[in-house]
Amino acid sequence: QVSPVLAERLVAWQRLEGRHHLPWQKVQDPYRVWLSEIMLQQTQVSTVLGYFDRFLTRFPDVAALAAAPQDEVMALWAGLGYYSRARNLHRCAQAVVAEHGGVFPNTAAVLQTLPGIGPSTASAIASFCFNERISIMDGNVKRVLGRVLAWGEDLSVKGHERALWAAAQQVLPERAEDMPAYTQGLMDLGATLCTPRKPACLTCPWSDLCLGRRDGDPERFPVKGRK
Ligand code: ADE
Repeated sequence: QVSPVLAERLVAWQRLEGRHHLPWQKVQDPYRVWLSEIMLQQTQVSTVLGYFDRFLTRFPDVAALAAAPQDEVMALWAGLGYYSRARNLHRCAQAVVAEHGGVFPNTAAVLQTLPGIGPSTASAIASFCFNERISIMDGNVKRVLGRVLAWGEDLSVKGHERALWAAAQQVLPERAEDMPAYTQGLMDLGATLCTPRKPACLTCPWSDLCLGRRDGDPERFPVKGRK
């Protein structure tokens, strides 16, 4: 049984201390959130900002992106790297138009069926845009939740990652309206305080509840297999 205080604290902290002025946060628009999440997968926020604005100017909605020639999409992506992301981006826009009437599906389960959208990206879009109570599970979140829960299992084992995701579902806020702040809070905590090395536990909203910290060495979590 996980304390509801964890989610309440994170939501309150995100609203006070988290990031609020990123351009994809202005409205609950799945097109913007999807585009930003794909760009942010392997690229830092400061680099993504300029690309994000140029994409939106040239392709203001999913239909415009779907209708564009692939060369043009690739040209706008140039410099971001990991070009399979751009090919999948274009294919995904075309699938949203062809298979979903130009409207993004509103559940993580259906979003995951689209090209380039994995489980964590699907959960990010669904929780940010549709308040779905579903947890993201990227590298930062594995670290943050691995520490607060002192998760002792080796996460390089597939079944253990699923078990952490099931535990993550128990930490979610009760109120669906809190999901966007909660999801952003997990990302913000991982980016700013609960860093891989020397986490800033003294200013962390979860400090007194963190089992990894209580254990004495939060950097020990999450446990990763020896190579
Ligand atoms: N990285 C992935 N998604 C992000 C978001 N919504 N805000 C900041 N960094 C992110």
